[in-house]
Amino acid sequence: MSRPFTVLAFAGSLRRGSVNSALVAAARDEAPAGVTVSVWTGLGSIPLFNEDNLGDRTPQAVLDLTRLIGEADALLIATPEYNSSIPGPLKNALDWASRPYGSAEIVGKPTVVVGASPSSFGAAWAQAELRKVLAASGARVLEEGASLAKAHERLAADGAVNADDAVRPELAALLGRLAEVAREPVDVTA
Ligand SMILES: Cc1cc2nc3c(=O)[nH]c(=O)nc-3n(C[C@H](O)[C@H](O)[C@H](O)COP(=O)(O)O)c2cc1C
Repeated sequence: MSRPFTVLAFAGSLRRGSVNSALVAAARDEAPAGVTVSVWTGLGSIPLFNEDNLGDRTPQAVLDLTRLIGEADALLIATPEYNSSIPGPLKNALDWASRPYGSAEIVGKPTVVVGASPSSFGAAWAQAELRKVLAASGARVLEEGASLAKAHERLAADGAVNADDAVRPELAALLGRLAEVAREPVDVTA
């Protein structure tokens, strides 16, 4: 039997009861056969980025994250929207993950962006910003994504995304698409 396709998933929120963490948990639950989703919850342990601390001085929490990124076949990131952009802690972690520039573990990594917010737009601007940041870091960002708009109305009493919510099959399809994209050759002339 071939080994599962592994996806490292995380939310860009530190909040207890985060709707983006619920979206990540739903992705883990909906993983199609052959795909395993591991959820990383260490965002709050990542120190503030300081370029002086690259190389030998890189903090252990950052080394742990970059190792997990390197080991995963793909990434799924769920972003909240703060003032039409991504939250500082998420940007901070991605700035660390983007170095060494051009040879970081994130370079070429198939990555899908999703997002949840209480508004009707489902963190659309934050998702666009996150795609931009990931592309600048060298990740292979999928055009497809998923939004959980009006997120607070779509959670069950235990904080999970409702069992019959339409986003669940969307997440399953996205994870399948990630595995497909990872098999496609990279066009180095593009
Ligand atoms: C500082 C701040 C700015 C926010 N700005 C936006 C925004 O621009 N658009 C939006 O849809 N929601 C905005 N929100 C609401 C968040 O989407 C909401 O708090 C959401 O639950 C955060 O995601 P989380 O539950 O995963 O932590 C903002 C919230 C905060 C605290």
